[in-house]
Amino acid sequence: MKVSAVVAVVVLCAAAALLAPAAEGSTRKLKVGYYEKTCRGVENVVKYHVAKAIKANRRSGAALVRLIFHDCFVRGCDGSVLLDPTPANPHTEKTAPINIGLAAFDVIDEIKAAVEDRCPGTVSCSDIVVYAARDASSILSNGHVHFEPPAGRLDGVASHAAEAQRDLPDSTFTVQELIRNFRRKNFTIEELVILSGAHAIGVGHCSSLRARLTAPADQIVPAYRNLLAGKCAAGPNPVVPNNVRDENPAAVAAAFPSFLKKLRKVNDFLDNSYYHNNLARIVTFNSDWQLLTEKESLGHVKEYAENGTLWDEDFSDALVKLSKLPMPHGSQGQIRKHCRFVNY
Ligand code: HEM
Repeated sequence: MKVSAVVAVVVLCAAAALLAPAAEGSTRKLKVGYYEKTCRGVENVVKYHVAKAIKANRRSGAALVRLIFHDCFVRGCDGSVLLDPTPANPHTEKTAPINIGLAAFDVIDEIKAAVEDRCPGTVSCSDIVVYAARDASSILSNGHVHFEPPAGRLDGVASHAAEAQRDLPDSTFTVQELIRNFRRKNFTIEELVILSGAHAIGVGHCSSLRARLTAPADQIVPAYRNLLAGKCAAGPNPVVPNNVRDENPAAVAAAFPSFLKKLRKVNDFLDNSYYHNNLARIVTFNSDWQLLTEKESLGHVKEYAENGTLWDEDFSDALVKLSKLPMPHGSQGQIRKHCRFVNY
């Protein structure tokens, strides 16, 4: 083909893409195995890259588990959390203070590049976020958390920090605020407790647990409070493990020696330890402790402390429910070429 003909084809394709109407994103039917015919093997590609990322840095697993929550609770699961700020939209969700510490965007980029190589323009970033959270939670739990999420989501074209700030729960919330926040997305008190169990893994900034540094002894074990206070003496920026079991031995030996025998060699193991820690008053966030202050949520904390297998199953189901949160009615969607930017 002559160069002029190639240019004409490229221009025509670009024009067609520009004119093509964006699809309706809020009423899509999701389906398990959605890409079987259009991008066979895509789920294995995602799994391969998630496993690779976790092997290189186990912390990226927790980041991927948090990402599905922060994507799906704001405008539904539409990849809106992945969008970078631009001059036209400088305040995307990821710039919101509530999204402090959100990470693993590079892992999503790597997966998207591999998937685009295999099947260009076919697999949405929002489906990648869901598959990646599925694989990360399975790997971090040694396969105990497992589920088959449906797919077929489209990527949204809107992303606003103010909406993230409005829709996501804050670590300073009271239990009633947490319950209201989850109810707005049609999640029950039990599901609030189940999903909070994700705080068995990962880290938080000292700024996110400030209230715990001065909480009274009936809310936090004083030795643990001393440990946190020591680490947070440097200011709001250090991060501490969400699970005391992942603390470094020196810090625990100094402030909380009775806990030394419970430290684990492998960090970020996803299980029901959050509930044991919570009942023992050694959790990082005020919002975690708050679950002990209401009758029903306290009952569920006890239930999941006693039955780890039940939690594995119920956590899996709750993540599937989370993954089905739809985009706002009437939203337009597309398959982004790059997860950080809307097409065009
Ligand atoms: C119930 C209300 C919740 C509140 C108030 C809350 C709050 C927080 C905060 C403040 C952090 C630390 C951020 C930082 O300072 O860097 C965090 C981390 C985390 N959250 Fe939540 N969260 C909640 C629910 C959830 C849910 C439902 C999930 C997932 C299903 C989740 C998964 C995680 C994970 C895995 C981390 C660690 C992330 C990392 O290490 O990169 N959280 N959360």
